[in-house]
Amino acid sequence: MNGIDKIFFGAYANKGVNFDLAAGEIHALLGENGAGKTTLMNVLSGIYAPDGGTVRVEGREVRFRSPRDAIDRGIGMVHQHFMLIPVLSVWENIILSMRGLPFVTDKRGTAEKIMELSERYSLLVDPEAMVWTLSIGERQRVEILKMLYRGMKVLILDEPTSVLTPREVRVFFAALRKMTEAGHGIVIISHKIEEILSIAGRMTILRKGERVATVDAEGATRETLARMMVGRELKNAEKMGTPRSREAVLSCRGLSVRNDRGARALDDVSFDLREGEILGLAGVAGNAQDELCEALAGLRPIDAGGIILQGKDITGLGPREFIDRGMSYIPADRKGTGLVSTMSVMENAALKSYWKKPAAERKFLINWKYVADMTRRLIAAFDVQTPSPDAPVRNLSGGNMQKLMLARELSGKPSVILAMHPVWGLDVGATEFVRERLLEERARGAGILMISEDLDEMLLLADRIMVISRGRIMGIVEEPKSVSKERIGLMMAGTPMDGIDRAEAAV
Ligand SMILES: Nc1ncnc2c1ncn2[C@@H]1O[C@H](COP(=O)(O)OP(=O)(O)OP(=O)(O)O)[C@@H](O)[C@H]1O
Ligand SMILES: [Mg+2]
Repeated sequence: MNGIDKIFFGAYANKGVNFDLAAGEIHALLGENGAGKTTLMNVLSGIYAPDGGTVRVEGREVRFRSPRDAIDRGIGMVHQHFMLIPVLSVWENIILSMRGLPFVTDKRGTAEKIMELSERYSLLVDPEAMVWTLSIGERQRVEILKMLYRGMKVLILDEPTSVLTPREVRVFFAALRKMTEAGHGIVIISHKIEEILSIAGRMTILRKGERVATVDAEGATRETLARMMVGRELKNAEKMGTPRSREAVLSCRGLSVRNDRGARALDDVSFDLREGEILGLAGVAGNAQDELCEALAGLRPIDAGGIILQGKDITGLGPREFIDRGMSYIPADRKGTGLVSTMSVMENAALKSYWKKPAAERKFLINWKYVADMTRRLIAAFDVQTPSPDAPVRNLSGGNMQKLMLARELSGKPSVILAMHPVWGLDVGATEFVRERLLEERARGAGILMISEDLDEMLLLADRIMVISRGRIMGIVEEPKSVSKERIGLMMAGTPMDGIDRAEAAV
């Protein structure tokens, strides 16, 4: 790619960017939220036509008019937000987007070819499974198999690891290495610098739409890369003091909840979230963390048990009542539950307050001037980059969507914050800012339930760590600093804390 320009509403998302990819190479693309990474790759994959510059494939200039043109030249992209059809099976999803789909599909042949590819690259998945039953990690494998099935030589992966657990990342990277050994070229976009240093050969850094440098991974460090991305030094958020209060702000008593398939997901869960603490919820993804948060946010009906917020029993009330009593919810899927992507930034900012004063003057009458001012305050406080408050949210970069959702949920002095992967897709600077904001809320007295699979992040921020496995609480670690990661790992794998104690006592 040579001198690529891409302009949206008069602003450069890419300006004169040069980028090249060799066969068998993993080339990382780094930069702050809104730096233009996704845009550049959207140009390479035929989604956008560039406003300037040229693209060459194997020496020949190409002009892609659609992603199909790019796919015909062997270039495919897996997006930040997946694009699979949940109600279809894996193999149907894989052949669905093929050009010249025959009238009668050869299911057996397709399934065999998928199995063969999935074994060759260690991307294990059952071709017959329905996509909606798959974990995020499995869905990602389907997206990649879709590309390999169609014979892609160049794979572009937009933040593929931000949704994976550390273990899944290792498996995933092993698959990527196999692909490069087979001669594929891979572009990977990521904010996780340590990971990138371990997998990429070269890296290109973008800042405000322009290329800052292209460097070899060898010799690069977290510090030098961060400086190139942000243009300044970074510090780390530091936790100050211990929570003073032991008062519960939120109590959960014998909570049982079903999942979408009607099976019991949460089983008799009881715990207290205290004022001014960050309680980490550790667990392997898919162990009913989502169901717990949805129940606590008032979004999922409960089978048994109760929820007490600031001394009031709110069991069975609707989500608005939860919100009005100070419940804040940062869900894992910002484009589904968290934001409405077809609506404007301003409408999304008002989603949690449009029915009450001062955002509503009377019933059904919204005070748009107030909402506009509030939106501007949120945008400024969280540095959300958007062309205007009226722009639809889908035009924002992934990280800026996340910042908008955080701005809304962390404002208004909530008493409880349910934070699932709060820094998902945020760049290094924004991550630091959000961690500081969470610590400020903690110091103010909010109770924060933080869900993460990243034990290091959890050890950095959490005052206590609660471990969940198959919808049951395995125990609460009161002093995370004094406990080994192995011990937490054992609990995540389903050993209750007192079981470990007994086993140790017996030795
Ligand atoms: N379709 C669009 N319409 C208008 N503006 C857009 C569109 N797509 C991207 N932009 C703007 O272009 C800029 C670059 O966005 P891009 O998505 O490329 O950033 P990014 O580097 O991928 O960031 P992130 O790390 O947050 O995903 C942003 O300011 C964004 O708002
Ligand atoms: Mg992006």
